[in-house]
Amino acid sequence: MKRSLLVAGFLACIPGFILPAHGQDAEAGKIVFKSICNLCHEAIEGKNRVGPSLYGVVGRRAGGMPDFTYSPVLKGSGITWNEEMLDKWIGGPQSVVPGTRMTYGGLKDDKKRHDVIAYLKTLRH
Ligand code: HEC
Repeated sequence: MKRSLLVAGFLACIPGFILPAHGQDAEAGKIVFKSICNLCHEAIEGKNRVGPSLYGVVGRRAGGMPDFTYSPVLKGSGITWNEEMLDKWIGGPQSVVPGTRMTYGGLKDDKKRHDVIAYLKTLRH
């Protein structure tokens, strides 16, 4: 009985291992967001610019903002923005969805990427 509880506890922790905890600083991520992503994106609900609003993006389907004109390739990608996909996308959008209109070369620094994802996770009701 004790053993199965331990196993259950261990399994419950697995999502925490997908991104290392040391790179999950939402405050640091906000600074990264403001210095890079904010050129094209707002963190405000429903407010699109060159790029769609990133409010509530975690868990959303790619191309999911109704009043933003996405590229057909992103809209048809079938991606759901979980942490793993966001990590790949922010690291190099063109290699995840060739032809996307997000003309950003990619954030190569692992910690900054994980921090910005931690910040994106706070953008919800
Ligand atoms: C040069 C402008 C630009 C910059 C800088 C930029 N983006 Fe984007 N982003 C876009 C555009 C344009 C799209 C829509 C792409 C398409 O339709 O193919 C987009 C799409 C996205 C999407 C998909 C949204 C959805 O609703 O499916 C995410 C997530 C995203 N960007 C995150 C980021 C993050 C995080 C950063 C900062 C590290 C960033 N972007 C920096 C322009 C930019």
